[in-house]
Amino acid sequence: MYTHRIQSAEDYHSAVQQSRENPEAFWAAVASNLQWQKPWEKVLNWSFDPYAVHWFEGGKLNITENCLDRHLAERGNHTALLFEPNDPKDRARRISYNELFMEVCRFANVLKRNGVRKGDRVCLYMPMIPALAVATLACARIGAIHSVVFAGFSAQSMADRINDAGCNVVVTADGMSRGAKQLPLKRTVDEALEHCDTVSRVIVYNHLNWQPEMLDGRDVWWHNELEHVDSHCPAEPMDSEDPLFILYTSGSTGKPKGVVHTTGGYATYVDYSFRNVFQVEPNDVYWCTADIGWITGHSYLLYGPLMSGITSLMFEGIPTWPDAGRFWSVIDKHGVTVFYTAPTAIRSLMAAGIDHVLPYNLHSLRVLGSVGEPINEEAWHWYHVHVGKERCPVVDTWWQTETGGIMISALAGVTPSKPAHAGLPLPGIQTVLLNQEGKEIEGNDQEGYLAVKFPWPSMIRTTWGDHERCYQTYFTAYKGYYFTGDGARRDEQGMYRIIGRVDDVINVSGHRFGTAEIENAINLNRSVVESAVVGYPHDIKGQGIYAFVICEQLPERPEYLREEIYETVSTAIGRIAKPDKIQFVSGLPKTRSGKIMRRILRKVAEGDLSNLGDTTTLLDPLIVDEIVAGKV
Ligand code: WTA
Repeated sequence: MYTHRIQSAEDYHSAVQQSRENPEAFWAAVASNLQWQKPWEKVLNWSFDPYAVHWFEGGKLNITENCLDRHLAERGNHTALLFEPNDPKDRARRISYNELFMEVCRFANVLKRNGVRKGDRVCLYMPMIPALAVATLACARIGAIHSVVFAGFSAQSMADRINDAGCNVVVTADGMSRGAKQLPLKRTVDEALEHCDTVSRVIVYNHLNWQPEMLDGRDVWWHNELEHVDSHCPAEPMDSEDPLFILYTSGSTGKPKGVVHTTGGYATYVDYSFRNVFQVEPNDVYWCTADIGWITGHSYLLYGPLMSGITSLMFEGIPTWPDAGRFWSVIDKHGVTVFYTAPTAIRSLMAAGIDHVLPYNLHSLRVLGSVGEPINEEAWHWYHVHVGKERCPVVDTWWQTETGGIMISALAGVTPSKPAHAGLPLPGIQTVLLNQEGKEIEGNDQEGYLAVKFPWPSMIRTTWGDHERCYQTYFTAYKGYYFTGDGARRDEQGMYRIIGRVDDVINVSGHRFGTAEIENAINLNRSVVESAVVGYPHDIKGQGIYAFVICEQLPERPEYLREEIYETVSTAIGRIAKPDKIQFVSGLPKTRSGKIMRRILRKVAEGDLSNLGDTTTLLDPLIVDEIVAGKV
């Protein structure tokens, strides 16, 4: 039976077999690696139609006991978080498991003192500093549900998320640094809260000594609050199916949805996938470059590494400041052994030139990982050769906010890696390819829609406040399956290559946006009548955002209106959703029933003008000529 780690190809195959023959026994063995306060009574209860999945029912645990308490006796002095600040001239900071445990308990008491109870929602809008990790774990300690909002989102996006979840407390900082730029986080929170009425308390961490305005009766300083609490805080006993967090993500409709993950299943799968994919060793210095505001930061910067008891490096800055060698210098400085980053970062560093990598020896590296979007072969090879020196296995990990953990990936050095392929599913994950009719495509060397036919412990449980939406989005396209929204190809060996989204979702630098969400934002500009957004291949970002915009009057100085639209989108969503290209058009290609033919717009945006398909059924076929002629 599966015990701790899959260490050979034979282990892998036998684990796959066990997980198929007796999934409950398999997952029970996996879950028993964790510390439970009370054992579960039933491993799995499930239905995909209607959707309801329960893992380890009756079991009680607290994920922070698994991240902290259980390591203290043997590894209390081992570094849990290794913090590398934005400015390389500032000192790095090591926080041991003992220290982190104490900080989490103290801040958990601060939360309690400020009215946070089990089940309450807490919004975290913070820089990538240890205080964010502390605040997140402190929520989990007392059973409050954290909702981390990436600090690049605008006040309006934050307000939408706070209102949807009904948060009563916000934790933030005065400001944050990213490269040469600084952002006023507290001011953005103030702006957001003008549109929220559930929040009674804002706890502010003093990071940059900025002295922001503090609203009497609502805002308190983190450091002042600490003076009133002690460091004893028992871990709240959580039911396995109690929610651990909400994380908002975009889909093909206009409104981001709150993906809900629960405690027992999430902890089990994140721990299992982390150990196996990265083949973790006790003295690893592991570095995941994702922000905690995204699922990768939740699962594989925070919870996964801490459950393993290893050192997780947390980096406040950006890959290109002060220069494009920053990642490599940090790897050498701290002896990083496992490095997990995104294709967009690799491509931008590749574009900066090899001279930025050559000065570093990178000897400490053992495993390289990639996540967030398909990695093209050129970037894969560059990563493998220049960073991994052809010594380190590259794991291309496919998964989603909704899956909670890595689903398809090589297990480093154990199962095969192939450029631009995520590889084989982890044991226990039953992926399938479906055809248009929803029939499973058998055999290899095939292409189809990627779906999963059996539950796994860390799958999305619901979308906050709207279970029907969760069911509709993931379980109705193909009855009986979880539908991923991705298209994939299975090669001759059964290894998966992810082709990309098959719905109206664009993946920009690993960040997901719905086309409708960006269109809604653009349409807020008063000069805009209508817009249509599509993705197009972008050398660095993977996909860029191309917007076709109809305005009341074609602008005399298009660059002014473009700037204005950038501003509109930055205000509505955040700078990360700014279109790369805007083309002003007098109409859009629509069918007689009024549906926008995105296929045509995609081809124009891609610059593939040779075969636009049949345009005669359009309401106004001539519009296509105008659009082609005006391509930017
Ligand atoms: C894409 C990020 C190809 C995919 C963890 C998925 C990938 C979406 C990969 C989820 C990969 C993620 N290869 N595509 N290794 N990893 N994707 O929710 O389209 O931010 O559906 O989760 O990113 O994005 P999300």
